[in-house]
Amino acid sequence: MRDLNTIEEVAKYIVEDGKGILAADESNPTCGKRFDSIGVESNEENRRDYREMLFRSEGMKGNIGGVILFDETIRQKAKDGTPLVNIILDQGALPGIKVDKGLQNIGDSEESLTQGLEGLNERLKEYYSLGARFTKWRAVIKVSDSLPSEEAILSNMSALAEYAKLVQENNMVPMVEPEVLMDGNHSIDQCFEATSRSLECLFGLLNDKGVNIKGTILKPNMVTAGSDSPVKADIEEVANQTIKCLKMHVPDDLPGVTFLSGGQSDLDSTAHLDAMNKIGGFTWKLSFSYGRALQQPALKAWMGKNENTSLAQEALSHRAHMNSLASEGSWSSSLEN
Ligand code: 13P
Repeated sequence: MRDLNTIEEVAKYIVEDGKGILAADESNPTCGKRFDSIGVESNEENRRDYREMLFRSEGMKGNIGGVILFDETIRQKAKDGTPLVNIILDQGALPGIKVDKGLQNIGDSEESLTQGLEGLNERLKEYYSLGARFTKWRAVIKVSDSLPSEEAILSNMSALAEYAKLVQENNMVPMVEPEVLMDGNHSIDQCFEATSRSLECLFGLLNDKGVNIKGTILKPNMVTAGSDSPVKADIEEVANQTIKCLKMHVPDDLPGVTFLSGGQSDLDSTAHLDAMNKIGGFTWKLSFSYGRALQQPALKAWMGKNENTSLAQEALSHRAHMNSLASEGSWSSSLEN
């Protein structure tokens, strides 16, 4: 890997040449849910084995520019004693780390404020020393006929801006993730509105705080109808509405927009990304930072068994390659077979 001397170079590297991000930063309880679905116990060794298997996949090379890790994983060593961080670097990807501490409800409302600013500066210094070169903080915005509230948007975007400033002071690239949830029966217009309000507030606050946009990555949701909405939007509509919303609020000099998959199927996540890049007309790299949409087929193929390692690695490699093509608008559904 070439020398990357500034956060601007790091941000650019992660998303250049058709690369995106593998989100593997599931907290232990979330990892437990994923493992439950395949009947595997979620203990430290199994979590290590699973992630080592992913990180050693051949398809990481050239398709994945960054991997987001959880606190436990950035400290772990592979079976043969190699730090997992070194395996990631050998694949040409940069290690990143989730630094928020999860959600807390705002009063007795159903909205939440992401926690984790306390002690963050010290944690960032340690993560840098462990090899992290970028970080992630996820804010969650709920949509209903009466939500999101102004308070939820403002408090969450303020925390994101404060986090981003601190991360840059520690020489790492902040990923800012304002996730408007798909949960619910809301329309695509309601998602557009909530995403638009969140992004407007976020970029205003990043600007106020003097955050260097060229050293920042945005991890947004796509603009879609709620998962329980009776009216589904088609691929073109999701692509058009998402681009429209981003163009209204995202500065041209932001190096990368890397979407979360948020509960979309692996194929929908790829098809939407590809459709947006085929439409084009924006300055940022438009790529992926998928968790479930990259890992789900690999998890199912693995089933916790050593003998399934190659199959699971092929599954991850395939999705990484398909999404890399989509990030350049060169994917086609016929390549899936
Ligand atoms: P999903 O792609 O599964 O939504 O996960 C991405 C992520 O990191 C959410 O914070």
